[in-house]
Amino acid sequence: MRHNMDTMSKEHDRKLHIRTWGCQMNVYDSARMADVLCRHGYSLTDNPAEADLVILNTCNIREKASEKVFSELGRLRRHKIERTKAGLKQIIAVAGCVAQAEGGELLRRMPFVDLVLGTQTYHRLPEMIAEVEAHARPVVSTDFPVEDKFDALPEENRAAGPSAFLAIQEGCNNFCTYCVVPYTRGAEYARPALQVLKEAKRLVASGTRELTLLGQNVNAWRAEGTDGAEWPFSRLLSALAEIPELERIRYMTSHPTSLTDDLIEIHAHEPKLMPFLHLPAQSGSDTILAAMNRGYARTQYMEAILRLREKNPDMALSSDFIVGFPGETDADFEQTMALVRDIGYAQAYSFKFSPRPGTPAALMEGQLPENIKDERLQALQELITSHQAAFNAPFAGRIIPVLLDGHGNQPGQLHGRSPWMQAVHVEAPDSLFGNIVNVLVARAGRNSLTGTFVKG
Ligand code: SAH
Ligand code: SF4
Ligand code: F3S
Repeated sequence: MRHNMDTMSKEHDRKLHIRTWGCQMNVYDSARMADVLCRHGYSLTDNPAEADLVILNTCNIREKASEKVFSELGRLRRHKIERTKAGLKQIIAVAGCVAQAEGGELLRRMPFVDLVLGTQTYHRLPEMIAEVEAHARPVVSTDFPVEDKFDALPEENRAAGPSAFLAIQEGCNNFCTYCVVPYTRGAEYARPALQVLKEAKRLVASGTRELTLLGQNVNAWRAEGTDGAEWPFSRLLSALAEIPELERIRYMTSHPTSLTDDLIEIHAHEPKLMPFLHLPAQSGSDTILAAMNRGYARTQYMEAILRLREKNPDMALSSDFIVGFPGETDADFEQTMALVRDIGYAQAYSFKFSPRPGTPAALMEGQLPENIKDERLQALQELITSHQAAFNAPFAGRIIPVLLDGHGNQPGQLHGRSPWMQAVHVEAPDSLFGNIVNVLVARAGRNSLTGTFVKG
């Protein structure tokens, strides 16, 4: 599909400001929107006041996430008024999961918004902007099939940096009872292997050394392979590992029911696959897991992790947890704490249950008061933090490979990630940015490691 370049001529360099909330999928989508619009004469700015087009790429996962969007819109309204007084135009677009969930409702609440675009419509941005400009009226676009989006996004990416995201799967069919994602991202769709490999090779040619494959349910990826046969996720990982200059592969987020033996096996022998797995458990109580519709019991989750660790004892694990799900008793919560102790995560995220409109859990009996959720969250977070510190401590004195993908405040300071996903602050010459180097770890803190580049 070709967009009409005439309506978006490159003569006037227009400024684009994108603000992104939520998960990595949104980060990836924001980069794709920038790719689309930069081909139509836009350049990026950090300053919303000077932007001709502002896009808010929003998250709806918890109430707090969506509230942030509305307060940001309040601020933007003031910029827009200022610009109008100065005779300048500004288009305000809301994209992402709040846009998908609210649709036209959003315009009623925020009438100065010009464009509401759902999660599958980003390739149509130039047309939609042209429509807003031509008719001087708001546009709402929230229903398109997901395959159109991937097919029609531009082939070339702007250089994505040493570590890049690549969406291989989108949407979710699991319908966990608390979650909005199946409604905001739609049904599961897996991109064919050829498309994924092409994009991976382009990124690698632009200097990317580490790819994180993205999907709401990434390990459920199953699609047409390059040989025409249907491939499981592990086969896609093998094919990606064959790209010579690609040095590291990660993926997220995985669902425990799709942690199959072939996937466990490839973690045992593929050195490019990093020894880190984010595998959200959500709860350690079978009663709560059933009420959440997670599709596994505590023992199944534990057994999957045991099998994985048996094959590769070096694996670091991470998880998400929800505390205060409706009906969660002290004993249920204690089982979550016990699961965390039994597994010993390298890191984990935990959230208070947030009732989301339209999800079954929002209407369940046994909603818990805020103070109980707060207490449980605090106890769980303390436990997780102590495990994280215990995981990091033995790294002091070790030499580990670090991909340097960020700059520090001072010259000679770079940031990077260890294979186990730890943040590492490194003293190293700036010329090493983008490389995987050996680092001697001097200090192992709770949240990060600090060290110095060593040769060899
Ligand atoms: N697809 C992933 C994660 C999706 S959202 C998975 O299945 O695990 C990221 C995390 O947000 C979830 O893992 C969950 O822990 C949390 N989350 C989702 N909905 C929530 C809600 N209503 N309240 C609190 N936390 C929620
Ligand atoms: Fe949401 Fe569950 Fe799907 Fe994850 S698996 S995106 S938590 S419905
Ligand atoms: Fe948020 Fe949507 Fe991601 S709700 S977590 S941005 S899929």
